[in-house]
Amino acid sequence: MILKPETPPFQAKFIASIVGQELPETMARLPELAIGGRSNVGKSSLLNALCQRKELARVSKTPGRTRALNYFLVEKEDFYLVDLPGYGYAKASKEEQSQWRLVVDQYLASGEDVRGIVVLVDGVVGPSQLDIEFVEWLQDSGRKFLIAITKVDKGTQSERQKVRNLVNQLSNGAPVIATSSASGFGIEKLREAIRKLVMGVG
Ligand code: GTP
Ligand code: MG
Repeated sequence: MILKPETPPFQAKFIASIVGQELPETMARLPELAIGGRSNVGKSSLLNALCQRKELARVSKTPGRTRALNYFLVEKEDFYLVDLPGYGYAKASKEEQSQWRLVVDQYLASGEDVRGIVVLVDGVVGPSQLDIEFVEWLQDSGRKFLIAITKVDKGTQSERQKVRNLVNQLSNGAPVIATSSASGFGIEKLREAIRKLVMGVG
């Protein structure tokens, strides 16, 4: 694959895993771009694809293990990619689910440096009830967001179209980008959309 010079991968490195606290004093305040979605939607895989790294974010075999806010510094471009904890893990208790809400609500409500959120929707499963609630919450909060459909290398053309239609309805005009971390489809487009959000022009 030949990369156009204007869409190089993010050069990211893991900085910190933060649970229910403010950024440590030692961490620079920089624009933040959060990536959220249900457990197993393909967040870690997408992060790795955006950065063209195999194991920057651990691709979990046991879903729902990510409980903290994971900060990745994008070097040279000077912003953080923030991997939010996944919601809707089937085996999580009610308590864990509401813990998730608390962590993410608090982060998105107070984070002054948050420039935007990429919401991932599973391209095979389609939007879940929790995805719908998350997007509605974002719309109410006035935060900028876009929706990335994941795993579009899977399924048939008509299955993909069905998911696409549901996501278009849900997005209510926000950008929708179809991606596959496995094939690389849509990754450059998503990277560009993220850069625009970070710069405040998206
Ligand atoms: P948690 O951190 O556990 O909540 O999951 P996650 O959202 O980070 O998902 P992860 O990247 O760990 O991927 C979950 C599963 O989906 C793994 O088995 C991946 O291999 C698979 N997967 C992720 N992205 C793709 C994709 O683009 N195509 C296909 N076919 N599978 C994918
Ligand atoms: Mg993960």
